[in-house]
Amino acid sequence: MTLNLSGRKALVTGGTRGCGRGIVLALARNGVDVITCYQQDSEAVASLTRELKELGGNHHVVRADVTQPEQIDALLALAQQEFGSLDLVVNNAGAISHVPFGELPLEEWHRIIDTNLTGTFLVIQRALPLLGAGASVISIGSKSSEVGIPLRAHYTATKHALRGLSRSLAKEFGGKGIRFNTLALGVIHTEELDARPQETREAMIAQYSAKTALGRLGTPDEVAGAVLFLASDLARYVTGATIHVDGGIS
Ligand SMILES: NC(=O)c1ccc[n+]([C@@H]2O[C@H](COP(=O)([O-])OP(=O)(O)OC[C@H]3O[C@@H](n4cnc5c(N)ncnc54)[C@H](OP(=O)(O)O)[C@@H]3O)[C@@H](O)[C@H]2O)c1
Repeated sequence: MTLNLSGRKALVTGGTRGCGRGIVLALARNGVDVITCYQQDSEAVASLTRELKELGGNHHVVRADVTQPEQIDALLALAQQEFGSLDLVVNNAGAISHVPFGELPLEEWHRIIDTNLTGTFLVIQRALPLLGAGASVISIGSKSSEVGIPLRAHYTATKHALRGLSRSLAKEFGGKGIRFNTLALGVIHTEELDARPQETREAMIAQYSAKTALGRLGTPDEVAGAVLFLASDLARYVTGATIHVDGGIS
C-alpha cells in the first residue's frame, strides 16, 4: 500500500491560516483537489490562492462561515458542482478564547460551541450525500480536552465533544465504508504565535516545549502528516480513533 492520494477530492474548513493552511497545501502537493473556506477576507486568502494556483489542480478558496447553515450549503453545492463527490472532509475551523468560567458570557459560550461543534455537525451532515465507501472524515480536536485548561472550559468542552461525535458516526456509517477520526493536537506553532510580542512568544515556546517529550512545538505540516495518513488507504482499518499529534505533551 502507498499514500497515493492523487486525484482525490477534499473539503477542508478554515484553510487560510495555521494548521488548516498546512493541511490544504500538503493535500494539494499530493495531488488532491481541495475546496477550503474562511470567515474573513485577509492577505492570507490571497496568498493561499496564489500558492495553490502555482501548485496546479482544481482548488477553490471561498468565504463561508461554518456557523451559517446557508453558507455551508453553498460550500457543499460548490463541492458537488466541481467534484461530484468528496473523499475527504477535514473539520478544522475553530475558535478559542480565554475567559474565567464564572465570567463567561452566554454569547461567548455559544460562539465557541457554534464554531467548533455545531459547525462540524453541519458540515458533516450536509457533506453526507457526497461521501461514499472509502471516504474519510477528520475532525481537529485538542489534547487539552483530556487534561483540561483553566479559562478554556468552553473550548475544551467542544473539543472533547468532537471525539464522541466521531466515534458514534464511525459506528453509524461504518457499514457504508466511511471512516471518522479525530486528531488531538498539542501546541502547534502557527502565525498566531508569531504575531505575539517577542517576549510573550519566547516564554510560550519555552513553557510548552518543556512539557513535550520531543522538546519543541509542532508545525502545521506535522498536523498535515497525520491528515494525509488518515485520508489514505494506509488508514483503511482506522476509524473511531483519536490520534495524538502532540509531541508527547503531558
Ligand atoms: N494551534 C494550536 O496549537 C492548536 C492546538 C489544538 C487544537 N487546535 C485546533 O486546530 C484547528 C486550527 O487551529 P489554528 O490554531 O490553526 O487556527 P487559526 O490559526 O486561528 O486559523 C483558523 C482558520 O479557521 C478559519 N475560521 C475560523 N472560524 C471560522 C468560521 N466560523 N468559518 C470558517 N472558517 C473559520 C480562519 O479563517 P479567518 O482567517 O477568516 O478567521 C482560519 O483560516 C482549530 O480547530 C483549533 O482548535 C489548534
